[in-house]
Amino acid sequence: MDSKDFGVAILGFGTVGSGVYELLHGAALPIEAKYAVRFHVYKILVRRPGAIRAKPVPPGLLAKGISEILADPRVDVIIEVMGGESPAREHILESLKAGKHVITANKKLLGACGDTIAEQARAAGRFLGFSGAITGCHQLCPSIARSVMIRSLMGIFNGTSNYILTRMEAGQSFADALAEAQRRGYAEADPTEDVDGIDSRNKLAIMTKLAFGKLLDPREIPTTGIRQLSATDMTFARELGFAIKLLAVSRMLEGQRLYASVRASLVPLEDPLAGVQGAHNGIQIYDALRGAQAMLAPGAGSQPTAMAVFHDLISLARGEPNLWPPPTTRDRAEPIHLVKVPSPGEYYVRMNAKNHPGVLAAITRIFAQGQINLANVLQKGAAGAATIPVVLLSGPVEEAAINTAVKKIQATGDVDSCVLARVERLQERN
Ligand code: HSE
Repeated sequence: MDSKDFGVAILGFGTVGSGVYELLHGAALPIEAKYAVRFHVYKILVRRPGAIRAKPVPPGLLAKGISEILADPRVDVIIEVMGGESPAREHILESLKAGKHVITANKKLLGACGDTIAEQARAAGRFLGFSGAITGCHQLCPSIARSVMIRSLMGIFNGTSNYILTRMEAGQSFADALAEAQRRGYAEADPTEDVDGIDSRNKLAIMTKLAFGKLLDPREIPTTGIRQLSATDMTFARELGFAIKLLAVSRMLEGQRLYASVRASLVPLEDPLAGVQGAHNGIQIYDALRGAQAMLAPGAGSQPTAMAVFHDLISLARGEPNLWPPPTTRDRAEPIHLVKVPSPGEYYVRMNAKNHPGVLAAITRIFAQGQINLANVLQKGAAGAATIPVVLLSGPVEEAAINTAVKKIQATGDVDSCVLARVERLQERN
């Protein structure tokens, strides 16, 4: 059988772009042997040609500008791995207009205007691949996009923050773990996007679109990160039977209401997501027809992302349809709207409290006044210490009641800091 040829241009030559090039170039023979396809990289576009980069652009491939790529008839597909919204958005839209297929790993851009890009790809009859934007769970995406009865999805979508939490569990500091994640090529150009939940919420917007047909504005999704956590929280959570993860959640409620959030959460140790280690990602879906499904996979770094991009190249070569769902008729008839207040849940509260007689009694009294049942209370510390950590795990309660109680406790002046995290359980056990 003759092999098919595909001409490729890569936009961006950082961690991911160089990984894609190395894969296509270095594994060209096994790729052709297995898939009967040859991918030729004809051009590479970079934002700053003079910049010092870890891997230099291979000689002869540097394009002067996007127009040179658009005008090159050998280029069938552009792979956009430059990140950021602009000029990636313009390059993608112009490429589709010029008849090129598009593969992008740009979660920020898809979160901001995925529907517009997908619509233009559909109108132009061109392929749009985006597995690299959701590296850690792209294998499950065809199944999610074709489901009709998904009720909820929960994911660990950021490798950097999961790496940091895993290292903190082993006693490393936040700063050292972040530096290590950056060295390994997991982190975003601006790592605050990883640790503050921004990267996770962009990916949550994409996964929610696949699951429920609605592209949420990522900026509207309530989001907090992991900076407030310490190794102490990891230890207390484990003692209570949980791991702490930066969890992205979306859940379809009655009446076209969609709850979504990104926040540090307690996951029962027996749930699959509790076992996600290092830079891996994980996703759990609860589907009314199929029950629970989960998958765990590497979610960040050069090679896993290059492999996700490669997955799209093979889908393109096989003529597979675009996965990005059109706007749902459900959303058109009666718009789906975002709900920012979660259903009642259990909450973990850690306070750093003054080590005086009566402080614990005062704290628990305020919870009792708020009708909050306490499932567990832990207090540990050296007898002579000025402050000691107090940890409470509530029974199911509205988050507003917890917030009110915490504010009242802080007003007493007996506590100087407070960490709050929600418990998230697999839906089928609720
Ligand atoms: N910075 C991202 C992460 C890379 O840590 O997961 C993959 O999108």
